[in-house]
Amino acid sequence: MKNTIRKGLAFLLIAAFLTACGNKSTPAPSPEGGQEGTPAVTEEVTPAQDTPSPTPTPEGSKHSPEIDAMTLKERYKDCFKIGVALPNSVIRNDSHMEVVKAQFNSMTFENEMKPDALLSRDATQKGYPETNTEPVLNFKGIKQGLDFAKENGFGVRGHTLCWYSQTPAWFFTVDYQPGSPLCSREVMIARLESYIKQVMTYCQENYPGLIYAWDVVNEAVDIGTGDENRIRKEKNNWYATIGPDFIELAFAFARKYSDGTADLYYNDYGCAGKKADIVRILAPVKEAGNIDGIGMQCHLSTGDNMRNAVYRTAKFFSDAGYKVQLTELDLGVSTKGESGEKIQAMKYKAIFQFIEEAKRNGEINIDSVTFWGLYDSISWRSSEKPLLFRILGGIQKKEAWYGVMQDPNLMIME
Ligand code: GLA
Repeated sequence: MKNTIRKGLAFLLIAAFLTACGNKSTPAPSPEGGQEGTPAVTEEVTPAQDTPSPTPTPEGSKHSPEIDAMTLKERYKDCFKIGVALPNSVIRNDSHMEVVKAQFNSMTFENEMKPDALLSRDATQKGYPETNTEPVLNFKGIKQGLDFAKENGFGVRGHTLCWYSQTPAWFFTVDYQPGSPLCSREVMIARLESYIKQVMTYCQENYPGLIYAWDVVNEAVDIGTGDENRIRKEKNNWYATIGPDFIELAFAFARKYSDGTADLYYNDYGCAGKKADIVRILAPVKEAGNIDGIGMQCHLSTGDNMRNAVYRTAKFFSDAGYKVQLTELDLGVSTKGESGEKIQAMKYKAIFQFIEEAKRNGEINIDSVTFWGLYDSISWRSSEKPLLFRILGGIQKKEAWYGVMQDPNLMIME
């Protein structure tokens, strides 16, 4: 009886807290449920905050002091790395990085390690034809983040080597000029090899052992407008120049230039709906021994079923002989009403309960979970408030954080 009253009171206090925070949930579709375009994130530069302590507890919180005293990475230290996607604007913000250092032990560059950020357009164009099969790259934009990771004992996910998006159109044309005809298959295979070789070699030579997973190919399965095998064809210059075996070739090059310290991953969104296609398409890559794992992006929403979207899908990949990582986790609030963030917290709790248990009993071979951003207002889905922290004075934990910590005061909701 006492317990019921206590739980009731806790619920009321949480509801009051959510109301005080002006939580207006916005119904929105889950990108995991069929998003096609992946627009680049615009960096929002947040001025340095005077954060009194890294992650203060929300006012009126009834969470246990034991949970508050812990951090995400401590909670899961025996299970998997806990990562966060960081733009350089966060990496440069000391008070934000205090929270990052306390809570996480892995990072992914949000945009800075993508081909459009690393390829040096001027130098590559100016150097043509010498650069025909040796594009010029510039690694300045990832140096600060890699240094941070090295100095603070973080692992890094290398994201991403071969992707139809955020790879400039000029990279695929004969003379590297926009509007020129597309290159031949042979030239484009050579450019792919050179690009992969240069990125991996830079990281391996300058930061040995720091990168523990490479997203070699991103989002190559398209069940809507893909080819007869459901390989992404539309707006995909890799497919247009090389053909569908660009996937196999990218993995072969990654294996060739890897020093063996990182696992090679295929990474995709909406995995629940295309898991069988992914495994079928990757079969020759696996046969050749060139892939280690499948990254499930996990851009989820409170309308999704977590047992299906995360647990069953990860188990399917694990059963097919792949390691698994959750690589871009965010869980948007699509539930109408003030209870949206509470539901979000309960859904986050479900995910972590399922995967922790499955990891511990050997069902799912998972070693890393990465959140796609530090706090809501800089998320690419900011209107859905999908992350674990918000800015309220400084960086503050949301109910979602307690969900991930599997706070016993929260129920789970599948
Ligand atoms: C995809 C990419 C990420 C990111 C998100 C949107 O999931 O893999 O790098 O661009 O889209 O922010």
